Amino acid sequence: MSVDVETSPGDSARTRASSSDGRSFSVRASAAATIRPGDYVRIIRPDGVDLLGFVEEVSPQDGSGLVAAGSLIDEGSEVAPMPFTDAAAAPTSPDAVARVVSGPDPELVVGQLVSTPSVGVGLVPHRLNRHTFWCGQSGSGKTYALGVALERIILRTRLPVVVFDPNSDFVKLHAAREGLDPPVAEALAGRAVRVLRPGEGPDALRVRFRDMGAHAKAAILRLDPVVDRGEYNALLRLAPALQGVDPADIPPRMREAGGLDGEALAQRVENLGLLEWQTWAYEHEAATDVIAGRPAATVLDLGGFHSGDEQLVVALAVLEDLWARREERRPLLLVIDEAHNLCPPEPEGPLGIAVRDRIIQIAAEGRKFGLWLLLSTQRPSKVHRGIVSQCDNVTVMRMNSPGDLAELADLFGFVPRSMLAQSARFRQGEALIAGGFVAMPSIVRVRDRITLEGGIDVRVPMP
Ligand SMILES: Nc1ncnc2c1ncn2[C@@H]1O[C@H](COP(=O)(O)OP(=O)(O)OP(=O)(O)O)[C@@H](O)[C@H]1O
Ligand SMILES: [Mg+2]
Repeated sequence: MSVDVETSPGDSARTRASSSDGRSFSVRASAAATIRPGDYVRIIRPDGVDLLGFVEEVSPQDGSGLVAAGSLIDEGSEVAPMPFTDAAAAPTSPDAVARVVSGPDPELVVGQLVSTPSVGVGLVPHRLNRHTFWCGQSGSGKTYALGVALERIILRTRLPVVVFDPNSDFVKLHAAREGLDPPVAEALAGRAVRVLRPGEGPDALRVRFRDMGAHAKAAILRLDPVVDRGEYNALLRLAPALQGVDPADIPPRMREAGGLDGEALAQRVENLGLLEWQTWAYEHEAATDVIAGRPAATVLDLGGFHSGDEQLVVALAVLEDLWARREERRPLLLVIDEAHNLCPPEPEGPLGIAVRDRIIQIAAEGRKFGLWLLLSTQRPSKVHRGIVSQCDNVTVMRMNSPGDLAELADLFGFVPRSMLAQSARFRQGEALIAGGFVAMPSIVRVRDRITLEGGIDVRVPMP
C-alpha cells in the first residue's frame, strides 16, 4: 500500500487536504502514517470531485504529525483547477495509480513501483525523443536495467538503437532467455539485432577511414593543421589517390607522391601502428553501412579491441557519419554505456577530444535531427557537464555520495529532491526514473531481462 493516511473520523484535523492554487496540495497525516515522497494520495474536493495527488515532499510537524505536499495530477479530465481548504484525504487504490503510470502497453513496462509492486511503470515511447542520463554507483544495476529498457524499446517501438558497448555487456541482446513466453520470443526474433565485434567475418566491427572528414582523420593521425601543416597538407593532397590502395602499399605511395611531407606522414602512420589496427573496413562492410540500414539494434562491441584508440576511432567514425547525414532526420537512439569513456570532461589526446566534442554537439543540436543520446555512467561529474545538462530524462540507481546527489538535484530540477535522497538506500535493481519518458517520477524495481547478459560479474572462486 503506498499511502496510509490517518483517516479516523474523530480526528479530522489530521486528514484534511488543502490547495491554494488547485494544482498543488498539502495534507496533514499522523506521525504514524507511512507517506513517502513518490506516493499517491486520494483527495476528495469539497465539491465532490475526486483527485489524485502525487506526494513530492514530506516534512515532520513539531510533535504533531507530518505534512505531505505535492502536485494534483491532471488526468486529462474536464475538471478545472480550483483552490480548496477542506478536502478529505484517503489512501488511493493501486488501480488509480496504474491508470496514471502504467501506460496502455504492458510490454512497455520497465519495472514495478517499489511502494506498490502491483503497479507497473511504463515508458512513454514518444518521449524517447529527448536525451537521457542514467547513473548509479558501480554494481547498482545500471547495465542490467539499461538492458531492460532497450529490450522494451526494441520489442515495442520502431526506434532503432545503436549501443556503444565497452564491456561487451550487450552482445547477447539478440539471445532470448530460456522459458520466455513464446509470443514475446517470437516478437523478439522478428526484430533485427546486429552485434558487431572486432575480428573477421560478416559481423566484424570496422569503419572506413576514407569516409571520414579531414578533421577526424587529423585527430586519428594526431595532426594539428597549423603545427603540422606540411603533413596535414600532404594528407589532404594524397588522400584521394590512396583510395582502394592495398594497405601495405599506403606508406610507399605516400613516400613516392608526397616528397618530404609524404615521408613524414608515412613515418607517422607506421609509428602509430595504424595499419595494424583491426578497425579498418577498406572494401568490406563498415559499421556505418550497417547503421545506415537501421536494424532495430546495432551493438558495437568495443570491449574486444586491444587499444583504447581503436574504440575511440570506431566511435568517432560512427558519430561523424551520423552527424554528416543529420539532415536525413532518421531517428536513432545512441546508447553509450560507461559514457565517461567517450565523453569525460577532459579527454586525453586529439581523438578523445574529437569524440567528446561531437557528442557535445549532438547533445546540443542533435534532438531536432532525431539523434537522441542515452548516456550511462557512475557519477554525473564523470561526463562533460554540457552533455548532462542537455538531458531531459533521467534514471538514478543507488547513489550514496551526498555530493553526487546534490549535483543531480542541481542538474535535474524536475526530480523531487526527497525522491533523489532515497536513492542512497536503493537496493540493486531499484531505480528512480523521471522526465518525460515516464508519466510521473517513479521509484521502481526493474523487471527481469528477457535476453541474456553479456559480461556478467566475475565470481570469487570458492573451495
Ligand atoms: N535487477 C537485477 N536483477 C538481477 N540481477 C541484477 C539486477 N541488476 C543487476 N544485477 C546483477 O548484478 C551485477 C551488477 O549489475 P550491473 O552490471 O548492471 O551494474 P552496473 O551498475 O552497470 O555496474 P558498473 O558501473 O560497474 O558497470 C550483474 O551481474 C547483474 O547481472
Ligand atoms: Mg555497467
